[in-house]
Amino acid sequence: MIGIIGAMKVELEALKARLQDVTVTRISGVDFYSGKLHGTDVVAAVSGVGKVFSAVCAQTMVLKFGVKAIINTGVAGGLSPNLKLGEVAIASQVCQHDMDTSGVGDPKGLISGINKVFIDADPLWVAKAEKAAQKLGIHTETGVIASGDQFVCDTDRKAWIRDFFRAEAVEMEGAAIGQVCFVNEIPFVVIRSISDDASGHAPVSYESFFKEAAQRAVALTEEMLKEA
Ligand code: ADE
Repeated sequence: MIGIIGAMKVELEALKARLQDVTVTRISGVDFYSGKLHGTDVVAAVSGVGKVFSAVCAQTMVLKFGVKAIINTGVAGGLSPNLKLGEVAIASQVCQHDMDTSGVGDPKGLISGINKVFIDADPLWVAKAEKAAQKLGIHTETGVIASGDQFVCDTDRKAWIRDFFRAEAVEMEGAAIGQVCFVNEIPFVVIRSISDDASGHAPVSYESFFKEAAQRAVALTEEMLKEA
């Protein structure tokens, strides 16, 4: 079974509508929709926004549904000049831009328990995502996606995240899901369509584009599963 996590309703609405033989299980306040999507067994859930909710959701998918991979789909703020609105960032690695124990001598972003700043997404799932995007004619950039409990809408913060972590995009869940997958030895990939540029204009852009961008990321996720 494959897990699919979106942070917000709009990120999974379209996909849920196409699930067949659906069973809904409510755990920790989250509805888990299990069923078949294009012939593949999946469980899909709207986790809620931020690292804690998404980690709870991912860990539940591991323990209660025995998922063998997790796809995180949704929107992101673009950091790379190569990503325009609606285009898609695919994570080859994820990191947490707000993880900071530098006060005790660690590098910024280090997750000390596993001694890593960057967690690798699964190369096979990354390749599947790239192939699906090509098929749909969607421009993608594969690289680092940075997560933190912060809607980034500040040019200095944006520049710091981009330059320090060499990140393509910023969002609020992917790296938490990545960390859960890492400790459980489960492959994952993060697919994010750009809704804004994480600058001072981000809130207005986000409001206008997040729905369209979210649908783009879901379309790509579905295309990947058709190939699975
Ligand atoms: N998701 C979409 N845009 C974002 C931004 N600018 N910061 C964090 N998460 C986002």
